[in-house]
Amino acid sequence: MYTILLALHSLTRWLVLVSLIFSIGRAYRGWLLNKPFLKVDDTIRLITVTIAHIQLIIGLGLYGISPIVHYFLSHFNTAVHERQIRFFGMEHITVMLISIVLITIGSAKAKRKTTDKEKFKTMAVWFSIALVLIITSIPWAFSPLTSRPYFRPF
Ligand code: HEM
Repeated sequence: MYTILLALHSLTRWLVLVSLIFSIGRAYRGWLLNKPFLKVDDTIRLITVTIAHIQLIIGLGLYGISPIVHYFLSHFNTAVHERQIRFFGMEHITVMLISIVLITIGSAKAKRKTTDKEKFKTMAVWFSIALVLIITSIPWAFSPLTSRPYFRPF
């Protein structure tokens, strides 16, 4: 179960990134070029927030069964000083939770805006902040601190 969730969580990271980048691109284009907010833009908004929520659910499941998190929680005083353990036990979950909350708020606010420009602007701003946070908190393969593969086999 752990291996499957970990591989799924690793893969869903790409869906989170692609959907966010795509909707941010559409949002800036619509905002700056005064485009009408079409049904497809609303669908893209909805897909982006849904993928983020799926990643949240997988992440929560992973947090519950991960041996790294278990070690972190049961040896808190020593584990908090171990870079890699602390990353998954505390830092990753905190920043990712904040990011997903930002995506959720941004999406809900955009939905309630009355003009097309405001809808695009709201999505562009909230989703961009979330994307920056997510990028900084992914354990990239090139990271010297906490390195994980780009693709993990099931
Ligand atoms: C947009 C949100 C997120 C992204 C892009 C993301 C991405 C990742 C990636 C790429 C890994 C490494 C997977 C691997 O080892 O191959 C990982 C590990 C992990 N993530 Fe996330 N994550 C997100 C949100 C969350 C959330 C919200 C939680 C907890 C509630 C969470 C919990 C974990 C845990 C516990 C691990 C490590 C488990 C282990 O190695 O034992 N993630 N995440």
